[in-house]
Amino acid sequence: MTLDGFLQNEKQVSEFVTALKGRKEIPLKFVYLEAGAYNWDKIIEDRKYGLGKLENDLLRESLSGIYRAIGQRKYNLIDIGPGNGKKAVTFVNFFLKRYSPIYYWALDISREMLRLTLKNLRPLLGHKVVLDTDIADFEQGNFSQGSRKLRQEGYPRNLLFLLGNTIGNPFDRDRVLTNIRESMTLSDYLVIGLELADLTNIKRIITHYRQPVVKKFILFCLESMGIKSANGVIEVKFNRKKSQIEMRFRFKREVRVLFKGEVFSYSRGDCVLLLISYKSDRTKLERLLEKTGFRMRGFYTNASRSYGLILCQPKRY
Ligand SMILES: C[S@@+](CC[C@H](N)C(=O)[O-])C[C@H]1O[C@@H](n2cnc3c(N)ncnc32)[C@H](O)[C@@H]1O
Repeated sequence: MTLDGFLQNEKQVSEFVTALKGRKEIPLKFVYLEAGAYNWDKIIEDRKYGLGKLENDLLRESLSGIYRAIGQRKYNLIDIGPGNGKKAVTFVNFFLKRYSPIYYWALDISREMLRLTLKNLRPLLGHKVVLDTDIADFEQGNFSQGSRKLRQEGYPRNLLFLLGNTIGNPFDRDRVLTNIRESMTLSDYLVIGLELADLTNIKRIITHYRQPVVKKFILFCLESMGIKSANGVIEVKFNRKKSQIEMRFRFKREVRVLFKGEVFSYSRGDCVLLLISYKSDRTKLERLLEKTGFRMRGFYTNASRSYGLILCQPKRY
């Protein structure tokens, strides 16, 4: 990879440059590309960040309830943005004890992330697990071609997973849920994993985002463009009105870099939005699901109610 070679195609270059130059923001999806995938791997395994283990434990506790709620039938498993695949190991193992073969398909924007997923799932391969992966951007459109192929080659129903707070990161959550819904039939189910908004304990939520591993992860695109972390500071805030964490890079000095044939210049005090992470409660989530054509079928939380797994299903219009 050349220093600025993390973007994979001209469409990504245009999207990235338009967002950064035109709106001073970097869509989070780009930080997972190439070497960025390994930064995410470090976060999810980091004890101080904590949400990786927390969600995986909750998944382990909730899978029996989820399986009962979906009628104890055979489902193909679709992992939307699998990360390092460790949560897939949990749910694939669970279903493997109930039926086989397991058809697992993961889609992700990042080729490197899919490599990590496959590496972590490889030990399951001898156990009647059929694995497949594809590079796809779920913000750009539906993935019905892949979900239909799975229905034809595996079982007639799909169970989709969107874990790790992934729904909290895109600027347009409605669009992502619509793309997912367009890839589902009425007999499919979706499990969403999300950190819940506890507005009385913002400090606890912010703590996850102040960890050094998160800062390194979030700076991947700027650093790949040649903007050094020493040129600014990272600010972490909770925006109560929008119920979201926001992370920005604020420049301490003037910086000018050439990237993809364009000049990017910043003055002292300028900032770039690097991350949003929406936190919801049950009511807000139900409203969002309702608006995008889903019905909530189950709600599973940890003991402190700080994290939720939401089981939902597309509704008929
Ligand atoms: C927050 S991580 C969650 C990873 C994993 N599900 C977990 O729970 O640990 C988001 C995942 O979605 C992928 N991703 C983010 N935006 C994406 C997009 N627009 N299209 C496809 N994949 C995307 C990332 O590469 C990463 O694997």
